[in-house]
Amino acid sequence: MKEITHDLLSSFRAPAFPGSFFLSFEGIEGAGKSTQIANLKKYLETEKNYRVLVFREPGGTAFGEKLRQAILDTKTEITPLAEAHLFASSRSQLISEVLLKELAVPNTIIICDRYLDSSLVYQGHARGLGVAEVLDIHNIFPLNLVPHLTFYLRIGVETSEARQKIRNAPKDYFEAKGIEFYKKLIIGYDLIHELFPHRIIKIDAEKNIDHINQEILQTIENLLSARVDQIDE
Ligand SMILES: Nc1ncnc2c1ncn2[C@@H]1O[C@H](COP(=O)(O)OP(=O)(O)OP(=O)(O)O)[C@@H](O)[C@H]1O
Ligand SMILES: [Mg+2]
Repeated sequence: MKEITHDLLSSFRAPAFPGSFFLSFEGIEGAGKSTQIANLKKYLETEKNYRVLVFREPGGTAFGEKLRQAILDTKTEITPLAEAHLFASSRSQLISEVLLKELAVPNTIIICDRYLDSSLVYQGHARGLGVAEVLDIHNIFPLNLVPHLTFYLRIGVETSEARQKIRNAPKDYFEAKGIEFYKKLIIGYDLIHELFPHRIIKIDAEKNIDHINQEILQTIENLLSARVDQIDE
């Protein structure tokens, strides 16, 4: 398995567009990503006057939505390498077709429901392809663009199961994989957090929805005011 070098990690950067930001949310099924994204979007639009666009991965473009169907089809088994390339393919289309154009519009905030870290964790760690291998696939423009901030909503396996039961959603590809896979995902996310300690904000998502929301808003305020300071200088 390849080594994760400092050089490799340092080639991943946030896109530089004055006044615009790129955020992502990560975590296993039921962590609260959709819930918190909806809350944050509303806050940024109504309190901060940002233009907020939300995308889900895989998807966000016509091509990406087609790939989403192929990837999440539980009947078709594919290797982790094939899967990693499918996600990267959808992501690369999303960045070129949508993200870069939208971020160029001042005062825009893009929020992705899953992004690079999901690939690192699901295919790289849990499915065993290797985190360095997945980073390598993304080590080319524009796939090496990463969010300014990523919120990792951390919950345990039991909470994930309990929340999925309430929601009563049909099992998809990953959800059908069972408890051992979930444990690997949680370890994987913790590892990725260590690799990108500044970008990824780990949040205890076992707490209640309002508490988590407050923690996210606090971090966002810091990001927005730090950037305004930089622009002022
Ligand atoms: N902090 C929380 N405490 C209790 N319940 C929560 C919390 N956050 C979300 N929920 C509930 O758990 C369920 C799953 O939340 P949500 O759909 O936001 O998770 P998700 O991370 O988007 O999941 P998925 O990856 O499957 O899309 C929903 O019914 C939601 O209302
Ligand atoms: Mg969701």
